[in-house]
Amino acid sequence: MSSSLTGAGLVAGVVGAPVRHSLSPIIHNAWIAAAGLDAVYVPFSPSEAGFAALVTGFRGGAIRGLNVTLPFKEEALALADTPSAAAQAAGAANLLLFEADGGIIADNTDGAGLLAAFASQAPGFDPTAAPVVILGAGGAARGAAAAFLAAGAPEVRILNRTVARAETIALSLGGRVAALGLDAAEQAFAGAGAVINATSAGLTGQGALEVPIAATPASCVVMDMVYKPLQTPFLAQAEAEGRRTVDGLAMLIGQAVPSFTAFFGVRPPAGVDVRALALKTLGLNERI
Ligand code: ATR
Repeated sequence: MSSSLTGAGLVAGVVGAPVRHSLSPIIHNAWIAAAGLDAVYVPFSPSEAGFAALVTGFRGGAIRGLNVTLPFKEEALALADTPSAAAQAAGAANLLLFEADGGIIADNTDGAGLLAAFASQAPGFDPTAAPVVILGAGGAARGAAAAFLAAGAPEVRILNRTVARAETIALSLGGRVAALGLDAAEQAFAGAGAVINATSAGLTGQGALEVPIAATPASCVVMDMVYKPLQTPFLAQAEAEGRRTVDGLAMLIGQAVPSFTAFFGVRPPAGVDVRALALKTLGLNERI
């Protein structure tokens, strides 16, 4: 929390339902404090029906902007006047910016966060070098597929328990996307440069995903968007197979960086270990 908020302070926040366990206020307020900004970042948790009223109420720029999390990302895109190309491709917005003239800009920094996570935890990874496999076909999977296509992946293979949902994404994103069932994992993993879990399997309390990581090339990078727990059973399996891994917390921090810059007009200050802060909040001292 900023200790020097004045009446001229800038306000941004995060909206979701639930939002109480969001790490975003901790990350953004740490950057605000370190940068000495006259600003604050607050959580909002409207009812599902109240989201549109909340967003509409901020038209005119009473606050600078909002990060948007589940379950509102698709609705956020629909409510905005000016969607970015990234938000349109993802079919969802995780960032709304309120302009003084009443307009709302929708953007999506999750894709940038995903690529930043690879850059920080798998240095040298080249998204253009080999096919990328995405497990799952919900909003997170669609966003990841769009991000890797935009980054120049030669092919994106979407594998889902329910193949029809993968086919819907493939149809909407076009030619370089293949849709397959999870039972095709062994063939799909062959030659893959990265495998990304974008299913909710692996979340604390959910079942683990059973896939043949050993069928990937030794150079394949394995990533899980889930960060509770930080080391999912899927990542543990990948590490046991000797694969490099990328975790969901790196993506969360990666999407926060461009969000902060969009809200406050400056990049997050260097030298703040927001990952350590986030791990502490998650009850972990260091990367497992
Ligand atoms: P999102 O938050 O990304 O929008 P969602 O729409 O709830 O998520 O989708 C969750 C994804 O996790 C789906 O791809 C789902 O598979 P189905 O489409 O077949 O339901 C996948 N998923 C959830 N639990 C799973 C499990 N135990 N095994 C495999 N896939 C699972």
